[in-house]
Amino acid sequence: MTMSAARPGATDGASASSPARYEDAVLGFRNHWYPAMFSSDVRETEIKTLRVLGEDILLKRVDGRVYGVRDECLHRGFQLSKKPECFTKNTVTCWFHGFTYNLADGGLVGIPSDPDSKLIGKLKLRSYPIEEHKGMLFVFIGDIEPPPLSDDLPPEFLAEDMHVVPFHQQEVASNWRIAADSASELNHTFIHKRDALLDYWRQPLPFAEIPRGNNPYEGWILHEGPGFKGFTDAFGDAIPVFEYKFECDGEVGVVRAAYDPAVEPGSVAFGNMEATLALPCGLRIGPWGANPGDPESANYWHYEWYVPVDETHHRYLIAWGSKVANAEEALRVEHDVRTRWSYLEYEGFNASDITANEGSQRAYAEDGYEFGEKENLSRSDGYVLTWRRIAAKHNRGLQVRYGGKK
Ligand code: FES
Ligand code: FE
Repeated sequence: MTMSAARPGATDGASASSPARYEDAVLGFRNHWYPAMFSSDVRETEIKTLRVLGEDILLKRVDGRVYGVRDECLHRGFQLSKKPECFTKNTVTCWFHGFTYNLADGGLVGIPSDPDSKLIGKLKLRSYPIEEHKGMLFVFIGDIEPPPLSDDLPPEFLAEDMHVVPFHQQEVASNWRIAADSASELNHTFIHKRDALLDYWRQPLPFAEIPRGNNPYEGWILHEGPGFKGFTDAFGDAIPVFEYKFECDGEVGVVRAAYDPAVEPGSVAFGNMEATLALPCGLRIGPWGANPGDPESANYWHYEWYVPVDETHHRYLIAWGSKVANAEEALRVEHDVRTRWSYLEYEGFNASDITANEGSQRAYAEDGYEFGEKENLSRSDGYVLTWRRIAAKHNRGLQVRYGGKK
């Protein structure tokens, strides 16, 4: 199902049309589509509010379709969602003095204290294009004619036979770039080495991977043509590390992966997975999700996003997708994800990513996101370097605060 609201009516969210520096994108990149919420979060007649890239958006579903307008009255700035009133199904009235807006395009349609005001029919709240697919709502933050949604999504998310189950979303106390930099970065698997998901699965997972070459920009498949922009890493090219020993002051430390591939073959052999990071902030990784001991059942694709909320928070959303041939298979996938993977994947795995991202926020927040100040990158950091380079090259502009204020 596709839903598009009217084009934005105001131009108060300042933007640049040329690509922005990654270092500057504290609030993300403007002129892109972002996942906002799950479809079930906005039910008929309900009003919800959401902050995306520093912009507050009021959402309402009217006759099945979700509309979004800026959540701030144009009279004297009352936040409409604080106490919204609706005297018709497709309008919202400000609780303070009654300015009333059409949700479809943000247009001011009435003022109780000045019914003949010339402002009526002229003033418009910013209106946000919204599309709804696969149980998720996507919002366009920008000033240009929105490109196809698929240009801003990791591969195959919109494929007709991909059954998607969105199952987790939460706000994380870190800037979005910290999460994007580590999305499926080869060596962050160190944090996952004892995660419960691996126990369930008896799955060997290397806790580090050594690149074969010396050029950190080599070994990635770049996506710079038509469609989405990003890059893929095929894990098979690196040297997996399952055991590491070091010595300090005569004592030997040993780090071991939870499962040794020589003993436990696992369901997903190392090198059989791939990960694609796509602008503005989405990841696909897989195949994933096998039944223990049954490699044939590794048929899920994990999708996740790091949507900028403000300078110090992002919204982390997770959905799993699987190709299905019919409605019966779709039901099986739905059941399997909701009763098993939604728990194991988040509680038993991705929660570690959140700890890592929140634990890195302080260093970046102290001086802003100045690369080099807080980092000592090496040739094994090709993932983050490649992502920053491709994001800086292909984004559609810088997001800044309302009125151009940072
Ligand atoms: Fe909204 Fe006055 S602030 S009507
Ligand atoms: Fe991770």
